[in-house]
Amino acid sequence: MAEQMKVDMEKIVSLCRRRGFIFPSSEIYGGLSSCWDYGPLGVELKRNVKQAWWRAVVQERGDMVGLDTSILMHPQTWAASGHLEEFSDPLAECKSCHMRWRSDDLKDDSCPSCGGELTEPQQFNLMFKTFMGPVEDKASTVYLRPETAQGIFVNFENVLNTTRKRLPFGIAQIGKAFRNEITTGNFIFRSREFEQMEIEFFVKPGTDEEWFDYWTEERLNWYAKLGIKRENLKLRQHTQDELAHYARKCSDIDYLFPMGWAELEGIANRGDFDLVQHASSSGKSLNYYEEETKQHIVPYIIEPSAGVDRSVLAFLCDAYDEEPDKDEIRVLLHLHPALAPFKVAILPLSKREKPAGLAKQIYADLRQCWMVTYDDAQSIGRRYRRQDEIGTPFCVTIDFQSLEDEQVTIRERDTMNQIRVPLGELRNCLQAKLEGEDLFILPPGGKIWKEGGNG
Ligand code: GAP
Repeated sequence: MAEQMKVDMEKIVSLCRRRGFIFPSSEIYGGLSSCWDYGPLGVELKRNVKQAWWRAVVQERGDMVGLDTSILMHPQTWAASGHLEEFSDPLAECKSCHMRWRSDDLKDDSCPSCGGELTEPQQFNLMFKTFMGPVEDKASTVYLRPETAQGIFVNFENVLNTTRKRLPFGIAQIGKAFRNEITTGNFIFRSREFEQMEIEFFVKPGTDEEWFDYWTEERLNWYAKLGIKRENLKLRQHTQDELAHYARKCSDIDYLFPMGWAELEGIANRGDFDLVQHASSSGKSLNYYEEETKQHIVPYIIEPSAGVDRSVLAFLCDAYDEEPDKDEIRVLLHLHPALAPFKVAILPLSKREKPAGLAKQIYADLRQCWMVTYDDAQSIGRRYRRQDEIGTPFCVTIDFQSLEDEQVTIRERDTMNQIRVPLGELRNCLQAKLEGEDLFILPPGGKIWKEGGNG
């Protein structure tokens, strides 16, 4: 039996819709196939995923720089990169119902919808076309980039000249990519507009194998460090006949999504393909001068290429949990604090002027540091459940006693444990807890309130 995730996709889609993580695009017009809008919580989660990636691959390293290149590029880029020739999927059409299918995804030669006969597969290029300027002709055709990588390759020399980086070094970019996929689906897993987080790491030929292994390990560890269970990740090396036209070697990091194992990120050894192609197409030399040997060389490129949306989906699926809670079910997202849309929720136990006033002061203060939310509607139990369901790691409750002893309660999402801390220590205390310090390490004057409390 195929391995299955414990959560099904409908639950994830429903939670995302209900709580404002992700909506179908242009929903009031009936939606647009395979395009999605990130809502108030989704945009935070997605931003946090991108920020965590940037932090790990740019900020915390000395050998990487960032870039943000345009979506529309000179059309010659796509001839040189091989996308005009090679970036296509085989498409077959049903002779009866006229539905179109990607033929290499089909189990047999008949239409999956009506069982009808299919046409011979034709290669279908996946790049979206548009026109630059007021004239819609062949000369003004430009493409929406199908990957962010090419913006990095064509800027190799600019980065080299302006940063004086020496090999090995890398360039990172996050941005939108567009593919006119024949078949889409599984929520945000495969869409026609999506975001990528790509690294192009330039190395001396001959060291490429070791850098390939290094990046594979780094990228696996990144997902695991942010909370993805290691047993839900695996590596799959591409066979020779499935390698992309530019790749010497490629491994996918697969994740056990609700529909089964599927690609989360691809790591490719692109050799010197891209720099050689762009050098010959542009007439510019894209070499690197190696001072030690006094020679010009063309670096090899190791490319870890991740999907932002697929990462968001994987983090959501992995974090999703249900626990029995009296007669109900407690739904919770065990999101890593770095990814959680809100880090803290402020919950006054009363709407009366004094406790609510203090709660609002705390809310205003903590907003200077993190995304914080405020909720004073319904019972405290319900409010905790609402925060659990969107993955808020900490709730701060303010009660009448807070007015007297200037202490508030911090309640932790996963254990539901609670501690009482002095107001003056709250910010530092939350900072420490968000960085992973045990909830029960108390600040001066703090005390354990309720262990495994009532929620
Ligand atoms: N520059 C190399 C490249 O683009 P890819 O394997 O085609 O390689 C890299 O894409 C990553 O981009 C994938 O692992 C996936 O996470 C994401 N991706 C690709 N196509 C996608 C789509 N249609 N919808 C969502 N994400 C996609």
